[in-house]
Amino acid sequence: MFKVICVKDYERVSDIAFETMKPFLKDGSVLGLATGSSPIGLYKRMIEDHKTNGTSYKNIYTFNLDEYVGLPLDHSESYWTFMHKQLFDHIDIDDSHIHIPSGLGDLEANAKAYDEAMDKMVVDIQVLGIGSDGHIGFNEPNTPFDETTHVTELTEQTRKDNARFFDPLGEEVPHQAITMGPANIMRAKNVLLVANGANKAQAIHDMIKGEVSEACPASILQRHPSVTVVVDEAAASMLEETDYEKR
Ligand code: GLP
Repeated sequence: MFKVICVKDYERVSDIAFETMKPFLKDGSVLGLATGSSPIGLYKRMIEDHKTNGTSYKNIYTFNLDEYVGLPLDHSESYWTFMHKQLFDHIDIDDSHIHIPSGLGDLEANAKAYDEAMDKMVVDIQVLGIGSDGHIGFNEPNTPFDETTHVTELTEQTRKDNARFFDPLGEEVPHQAITMGPANIMRAKNVLLVANGANKAQAIHDMIKGEVSEACPASILQRHPSVTVVVDEAAASMLEETDYEKR
């Protein structure tokens, strides 16, 4: 079940995302976190709230969606580095409560260990962005819906979308990633998906209005009982006005 909220711009997307996240920022919560530019504004607000209101993350646990294969942790574009820079370094979370799949070493074993860790907890709210091809996490089109954590080949579209981060370093976008599968994502009690910009309009349309199909990984969310989608006007441009609440 989707609750779709359409707002003017990215700043408002981030405000509403934070409002949705706020009730979960309490002892014992398990947060599913995402990388990419879409959730950065949300993370900024979480940091601000920690600094000004003293919201503590000492007893909060996190599970990230995915990581590139083969990047050292301290590589500037690893998702490990991203999460520390954008959030973890600025809040009081315990390092041992942070879970990010490892794209180094024995990948099969890493995937299995990640599923085992996830099986011990239930994610209260899973933050998601969306790829322009409808991917969530790094679940590319045609990933089986029942897949759990696994290694995946990135599509040319995704590698093109993410080249903006690697080009300045003179490096290639990695070809593979390790990602939670659709089945892990669907186990979260609540989902919060944020998207902005016209290049997300088709994916947002297909997720909400298209048929549920592995060709659009995000469409599986039509089967989830509690999904809040926060989009700006550009990302909502292929929806009808009756599809969303305007704020
Ligand atoms: C990457 C991540 C996804 C993210 C997507 C969109 O592929 N693995 O989790 O949703 O990018 O990124 P952005 O928010 O930068 O558009």
